[in-house]
Amino acid sequence: MHGRLKTLRQIYLMNDTQQSNPSSHTHAMPVYRPLLYGFAMLSVIAVLGLLALGGTVTSKTAGMAVPDWPQTFDYNMFLFPISMWKGGVFWEHTHRLWASGVGFMAIILCVWLWITEKNRRWMSWLGTGLLVMVIIQGILGGIRVTEIDWRFGIVHGILGQLYFCFVILACAALGKRWLDKPAADVDAGKLAKPVRMGWILLGVLLVQLSLGAAMRHSGAGLSVPDFPTFYGSLVPPTSQQQLDDAIIEHEVDVQHDKNGDVVHFKLWHVYLHTAHRLWAIAVIVHVLLLVKALKDSISSLPNLSRPVMAMLGLLLVQLTLGMLVIWTGKHPEISTAHQFVGAVFLGLATLIQIRMMRLRYLANHQIYADTAATPRDTLSQSVQASGTGAIA
Ligand code: HEM
Repeated sequence: MHGRLKTLRQIYLMNDTQQSNPSSHTHAMPVYRPLLYGFAMLSVIAVLGLLALGGTVTSKTAGMAVPDWPQTFDYNMFLFPISMWKGGVFWEHTHRLWASGVGFMAIILCVWLWITEKNRRWMSWLGTGLLVMVIIQGILGGIRVTEIDWRFGIVHGILGQLYFCFVILACAALGKRWLDKPAADVDAGKLAKPVRMGWILLGVLLVQLSLGAAMRHSGAGLSVPDFPTFYGSLVPPTSQQQLDDAIIEHEVDVQHDKNGDVVHFKLWHVYLHTAHRLWAIAVIVHVLLLVKALKDSISSLPNLSRPVMAMLGLLLVQLTLGMLVIWTGKHPEISTAHQFVGAVFLGLATLIQIRMMRLRYLANHQIYADTAATPRDTLSQSVQASGTGAIA
């Protein structure tokens, strides 16, 4: 009884300290808001759906099925008759509608964050950044159509996945796990290397995504039609003449331009394709390096072990899908799945990085889960933490 009274007094004192000291109030523990978190989670799912739809549009070469923008065949986009949603038009139009929904959700999230996250203004700015990104992304998609330039498609594809990563950041910082403190034996120094490796992995993945997007939008996906060989050889052709001979010898299904004329693959298509294949080795190596760097501490970091296991599993799936893209002659559903899993993979690597950095941040400020702590310890830790702005 005496103990409980003491605890209540400590809590009272703690609140009192925060109220009488405005600067400590600024750095108070973030409040978990289930509704806001649920909405952020819904945004993550909506963006995932949009990535899948966008991937389908590219795989089915439906990017130009609706030739105008922001109208749809001269109709207001939201009033376009359902009876006309057919074939490629269906995919491109639903992609546009879904993207409008995602944009609308970004507006709500941004306003919500400005209203609620008064103690974490960086979150409100993150919401603003997301809104700006989604607007740029929409305009890029539109320019890709009006300018009929596939290069905008590459930027649009990459920015879409970057947007996904930042929505994951917003969602993670609103979740309950953000408030989880590491066990007392977690050493911030031990997390320095995994955090470094995590950044490198994200860079490696970004390069792989860019190579993949460039390949998809330039039509270089089948510029090497076999795997693991290159036109039956262990090395790719090194001159246009060699490539032309190899194409004839292997009876490759050549590309056609919009007039129906045959367009042979150029050497740069093959180089792009080869770079993507070889870079997959860099991805594998860096995933394994990250796992190795985390090996010693992962058992004491439950928030990391599950996503790391999932990432290892996804790596296998992604490699298999990459090979299947080639063996099936770029089956549209397989190509979309490869692009989609690539996005989930990048998202997972982002989540792991966010969680590692959060844990390192807390451990750096010695904010640990205090299972055996006395109320006195709890109080001193909280005040110390709020004084340094640690639990942002
Ligand atoms: C873990 C490693 C890999 C990652 C993260 C990855 C990621 C990606 C991504 C994200 C795209 C689509 C980009 C976009 O459209 O926005 C792509 C396209 C592609 N990837 Fe990979 N990839 C990997 C490994 C491989 C491997 C090993 C192969 C071949 C064996 C491969 C073959 C392809 C092909 C052919 C395309 C173009 C598909 C098309 O034209 O529709 N990928 N990759």
